[in-house]
Amino acid sequence: MRLDKLLANSGYGSRKDVKKMLKNGAVRVKDRIVKDAKEQVDPNHDEVTVYGEPVHYREFIYLMMNKPQGVVSATEDSREETVIDLLEPEFLHFAPFPVGRLDKDTEGLLLLTNDGGLAHQLLSPKKHVPKTYEVHAEKPVTEACAARLESGVDIGDGYVTKPAKAVILENENGRHKLLLTITEGKFHQVKRMLKAVGNEVTYLKRLKMGDVALDSDLLPGEYRELTESELAALKK
Ligand code: URA
Repeated sequence: MRLDKLLANSGYGSRKDVKKMLKNGAVRVKDRIVKDAKEQVDPNHDEVTVYGEPVHYREFIYLMMNKPQGVVSATEDSREETVIDLLEPEFLHFAPFPVGRLDKDTEGLLLLTNDGGLAHQLLSPKKHVPKTYEVHAEKPVTEACAARLESGVDIGDGYVTKPAKAVILENENGRHKLLLTITEGKFHQVKRMLKAVGNEVTYLKRLKMGDVALDSDLLPGEYRELTESELAALKK
């Protein structure tokens, strides 16, 4: 791979920053000063140093974001702000993409990575990765409704949802909240499930995906890298 890409992906700033470092003679490949950004290096075999410090190359990036409302879960959009627009330049060199989609008006846990293998694993319908949502509903959610959500409802075109878990949190003072855990990812699934039981979602937030929970310190629009244990939990 190109030397400037390796350095940018290893946390040494943008390609422009990296170019400056190269020009200053700060970078050595196999103990030889290299100034050419296009130099080809093998990140697994060639020793690369910056100001004498070895570079620890990493191929993948794993981020958890508290997706805010009003932003689309896409890498590009001609009109709307995307979750990628919220990332600092140092992460863009990895070309991360969102793992699945949350609706524009849905908040909460969104994973971003450039690890296509892991994304595929998490999104594969065969894996049944559970996703937990905090749902605010327009009308009270009765025990009977929760039971129907759990056993499966027809969300249109004859599709009946797989078993889910519904926990009623609140049904008073005009506030109707539940936790809904589903193992599928059909288009607008939670909204369609509530509709199927004669209700409507007024606010939706994803709290958990697999064993990884949204960090409650992250404000909408904030993100951080996954910890090693979170990543291990996702990979298992
Ligand atoms: N279900 C929905 O309806 N919307 C989302 O964003 C996620 C799940």
